[in-house]
Amino acid sequence: MSTSSGSRSTPTLVPAASAPDGGGAGSPPAAAPTAPATTAPPVAAEPPPPEPSFAAFREVPRTGVIFVTTEARRRGFDPVATDWCNLGQGMPEADALPGAPARHEAVVIDPADQEYAPVAGIGELREAIASLYNRLFRRGMPSQYTADNVAISGGGRAALTRVAAALGNINLGHFLPDYTAYEELLSVFRLFSPIPILLESERGYAFSAADLRREILGRGMAAVLLSNPSNPTGKVIGGDELAEWIATARELDCSLILDEFYSHYVWRPDLASQGGISTAARYVEDVDRDPVVILDGLTKNWRYPGWRVTWTVGPKKIIEAITSAGSFLDGGGSRPLQRAAIGLLEPEATLAETRAIRAEFGKKRQKLLDGLRDVGFTVDLPPEGTFYVWASAQHLPPSISDGQSFFRAALDRKVITVPGEFFDVNPGKRRAGRALEAATRFRRHLRFSFGPPMARLEVALERIRELVADAARQG
Ligand SMILES: Cc1ncc(COP(=O)(O)O)c(C=O)c1O
Repeated sequence: MSTSSGSRSTPTLVPAASAPDGGGAGSPPAAAPTAPATTAPPVAAEPPPPEPSFAAFREVPRTGVIFVTTEARRRGFDPVATDWCNLGQGMPEADALPGAPARHEAVVIDPADQEYAPVAGIGELREAIASLYNRLFRRGMPSQYTADNVAISGGGRAALTRVAAALGNINLGHFLPDYTAYEELLSVFRLFSPIPILLESERGYAFSAADLRREILGRGMAAVLLSNPSNPTGKVIGGDELAEWIATARELDCSLILDEFYSHYVWRPDLASQGGISTAARYVEDVDRDPVVILDGLTKNWRYPGWRVTWTVGPKKIIEAITSAGSFLDGGGSRPLQRAAIGLLEPEATLAETRAIRAEFGKKRQKLLDGLRDVGFTVDLPPEGTFYVWASAQHLPPSISDGQSFFRAALDRKVITVPGEFFDVNPGKRRAGRALEAATRFRRHLRFSFGPPMARLEVALERIRELVADAARQG
């Protein structure tokens, strides 16, 4: 971290930004003078002390959603504030949905569950997950998942971090755009080299198995990481195409690390007919030999983001490596919540939850898509999956025709969005100069979430309509 002045100030619990007058409602900074009795003339406000800095620590960038929420908070946003519309949120509404299984509202802790969970997760949950995949996607197939093919983690990002920590000295392909957290994830572990692969909006972000083969061979990639369905574009590699991807990975021994956190939010009719879930687990032939690693969890597909119960499914050998990484990275997830999660993973309950998501989020998808198009946003690809619409502001009035300017103007109307540039994942900021400029075509884009309830979306669309109309009037 850089130090703004040569000397160190005493760190306080009042961040400089929240106490611009050197005091405010919180406790005063340590160095502030004590105000004398009430009759004294007002003392000129001391400038706030410089922010503390610590030589040992680097500036860790805020990932996109954290950045936008911080900016929104500066303007008064509070997660429980009812007058804000958070279309930046990466979580689905978590209340009851018509037709969905009842929401789990109480967790009883068995005294034995006060202990650590095993780093790979409790055996009963690992078995339940293996059985869920076998029963929903692998009926009649000779090779079946077992508990040894499953590791539990405390959250999707913890699972991704374990996978990244377990990779060797390889080239790892990743796509542009993709999930914002990949940027830091792919820079902190220095053993592998991240190789960006640009997806083209003109092609609807398509990437065929033949494209994959060319990239694997041309760039010597031993692994590829992607969110599928893709956050932010909503593109899904599914059905026969996914089967071809897996066949290519198997043939060329390139590990596919598939982040399937949105796999129950699938809108393409051909894929939705498969129980509404698109997963690589259908196309894996040998669970212990095919180089396919799947990440999923309760966060989105069961709508329990706060539980921090997620899993990695893959060949036993890879699960062992991931578990070893977990033993020094995080030590394992919450044992009581792992126990409670078992009941949520019954195949019938899972299918009922997915149907309910499909019905409710399907309506919200259409509402947001139509609303954004009506005001002039361009949508390269109506989302085939996820609960996001990825749209370009390029044809809006000039004052709001890029991601940042629209984002800021929308904040003034208490609507949160995420500018597209955050998804231009650039690990280690190694891509620079013109290469960066060319890729930051996503400067014009924004990601809009239909995670919030319908009523919030309607309010947000109304505010966006007014914003665009005002901007058009002002020229
Ligand atoms: C593509 C993708 N993968 C993984 C996650 C991580 O989920 P978690 O909140 O469980 O860490 C997210 C959350 O936004 C996501 O969008």
